[in-house]
Amino acid sequence: MKSFYNAEKISENVWWVGAVDWSVRNFHGYLTERGTTYNAFLIIDEKVTLIDTVKAGFFAEMMERISSVIDPEKIDYIISNHAEPDHSGALQQAIEAIKPEKVFASVMGAKTLKAYYGIDAEVVTAPVSLGAGNLSFVETRMLHWPDSMISFYDRDGVMFSQDAFGQHLAGSKLWADEYPGETLEYEMSKYYANIINAQSAKVLSLLDSLPSLNLPLQVIAPDHGPLFRRNFGEVFSAYRRYAEQKPQLRAAVIFATMWHATEDLARAFADGVRAAGVEVKIIDLAVSERSAVMTAVANSGLVAFGAPTMNNQVFPAMADVLTYVKGLKPQNKIGFAFGSCGWSGEGAKQIAAELENMKFEQPIAFIQSKYKPTGEELLKAFEAGYTLAGQLKETVAAN
Ligand code: FEO
Repeated sequence: MKSFYNAEKISENVWWVGAVDWSVRNFHGYLTERGTTYNAFLIIDEKVTLIDTVKAGFFAEMMERISSVIDPEKIDYIISNHAEPDHSGALQQAIEAIKPEKVFASVMGAKTLKAYYGIDAEVVTAPVSLGAGNLSFVETRMLHWPDSMISFYDRDGVMFSQDAFGQHLAGSKLWADEYPGETLEYEMSKYYANIINAQSAKVLSLLDSLPSLNLPLQVIAPDHGPLFRRNFGEVFSAYRRYAEQKPQLRAAVIFATMWHATEDLARAFADGVRAAGVEVKIIDLAVSERSAVMTAVANSGLVAFGAPTMNNQVFPAMADVLTYVKGLKPQNKIGFAFGSCGWSGEGAKQIAAELENMKFEQPIAFIQSKYKPTGEELLKAFEAGYTLAGQLKETVAAN
């Protein structure tokens, strides 16, 4: 019986043979609100080649898609562009089923595959001939792991970019131009903020080096979400914009609260921002999570964090978020800390210290109210929002 999992042709000699994960919502802590895909690709040349595999649990789907165009045992090479388990989880099973002549990976990829699965991969240091076409490789360490690399198939002009240019976006369409632009922009920027942002300097180096490679680009094929077959300049420009992290004329107010005191300060600050004419978003950590926070941080030039004190510490939900955001290294932010406490009052101080560690500019000292903010304290919070939004406007205008 014919499988319903079919391969989809993406160029003359390349097929998409990945899997669609409609259900995943927690991707190592990232809320994948639209699910995701694990893209794998099959090149049919004299040497039949599989680029990456899929997450464990999706092996059968990938193999059925491959089988819809070729007997999997005809695959000669497997290329591991990225060894994180969402792309290598099915690799061991694939090797057992396919018995490829060789598995190729970067230097760090070979080490990672050995550590995870005991797989012996051959390190690629030069282009590999597949017959009519060649695969060349660009190491992209830390985009997203030390093992990451991009492969380029010159015959069809396909760039297999692994995590880079990806989106966590499950769907029944293969191409980015088949999705609403707003959805794509949101998912690309969210993906960048939460997966790539910490390595923005490396992204800029990669983007600067691409023209010198003279790639006859026809398709950008990331390992997650839709593929690009046109408007490559817009894709690269979006990544350059994300990586440059220039201040944007938006504000985010992120707060946790126990008895609404910190929430009152958050609302007062946000109203000050609004009064200054700057778009502001309030995120309550009781009903939100860290990847939404990081997306808002990345897209805002002004970010305020507020939390109560609990047992002489900043409220745990805020500690979680600050740890996460700090690791992703947002730059060029105006920050503000606030909170309410009953007695000891470490919360707002700890937030201010973390913002200092992250090199957020804090022109106004933190506000901390006791039990419940007074009218005067709420006015101070409003004025802080108004003043900092004004400063943001000047900063954006100067950029
Ligand atoms: Fe899609 Fe870094 O793995």
